[in-house]
Amino acid sequence: MVYDSRPMNEGTAPKPGETADEMLWGFWYPALRSEELRGRKLARAMLLETPLVLGRDAVGKPFALRDVCPHRAFPLSFGQLQGETVECAYHGWQFDAHTGQCRHIPSLTADSKLKCERIHAGSFPCEERDGYVWAFMANAEGHALAQAAPPVPELPVLSPRYRTAHLAADLPCGMDQGIIGLMDPAHGPFVHQAWWWRTRRSIRDKAKNFEPIPGGFRMSPHAPSSNSAPYKILKLLTGEPSTTTIDFMLPNQRFELIRAGRYWFSSRTTVTPVQRDLCRLDFVAAWNILPWIPVVPFIIHVLGPRFIRQDVEVIKKQALGLKYESRMMLVDDADRPARWYFELKAAHLESRRTGQPMSHPVAGPVTLRWRS
Ligand code: FES
Ligand SMILES: [Fe+2]
Repeated sequence: MVYDSRPMNEGTAPKPGETADEMLWGFWYPALRSEELRGRKLARAMLLETPLVLGRDAVGKPFALRDVCPHRAFPLSFGQLQGETVECAYHGWQFDAHTGQCRHIPSLTADSKLKCERIHAGSFPCEERDGYVWAFMANAEGHALAQAAPPVPELPVLSPRYRTAHLAADLPCGMDQGIIGLMDPAHGPFVHQAWWWRTRRSIRDKAKNFEPIPGGFRMSPHAPSSNSAPYKILKLLTGEPSTTTIDFMLPNQRFELIRAGRYWFSSRTTVTPVQRDLCRLDFVAAWNILPWIPVVPFIIHVLGPRFIRQDVEVIKKQALGLKYESRMMLVDDADRPARWYFELKAAHLESRRTGQPMSHPVAGPVTLRWRS
């Protein structure tokens, strides 16, 4: 089925309390950068308003427990690692670092009837990938899963040798605002004005093809915007025409893959809810484009933070208005991806509620048109 793309077909985003800023459980989220977990030290993180204590066991494998002792709610992160257990600093109860199972209660006498192995601290599946420690957030309590967690999201890389970079920023907004900012094509010429990227005068008609993918949608491979300098530089450096593919996938991930002949640049941006009004943006990139000329690192480390600062500024200012009006207008076609996000989220929540497979809101390939 092919959607038509009617101009200015206005839609209204969900009202608060529908799916607005509702947390999406049942996904992996990046909790910390790998380098933040060193040695036997315990570290704290907050994901989906759930406090976590993270660390590494003797062989370096990371673990994540709910940072609340089941005895009297003392944060476990004030305690210490004892072999393979985390010991609470208040009364010395010890919990298995990977399962949360209680291993030892020092105050119990030999004839005590209390079965300490029946007591659990909340625990979350934990894996390391792409320079992040990820936690699988099935529920806020950290209850054991009925089935194994799905595989951890992985940044696609297309050759054995490549370079990587990471950026991060705090976004003072709820997750929905942060995420629709990831897929908003119309703010570029206004927020990210720069001679080398976009100006108001460079605004032109765009037509991009989209298609559904599991849990999200894809902007099909296309030649990147001819009105941005980085792509012109890429063409100049590689001598090859490039194509770019952009995927959005629930709960919070935007992948972009640029290919030019044998060169490639792959990136993933996630907007992770920390608290109701605070998200963290994580950007990771890998590339094999001209590793001997630091042009990509320059773009990432100099221009990237500038881009992100501009987005953070906009989000701070938008929060001033959102205090008085939480509903938004989503206009076709520029805001259609944002609308798909809300529809995907609602479909996911519905499928979790009913146990039925998720019905995909994007029925088939569709061309969206806008100016940016
Ligand atoms: S509160 Fe943790 S052992 Fe008592
Ligand atoms: Fe932006």
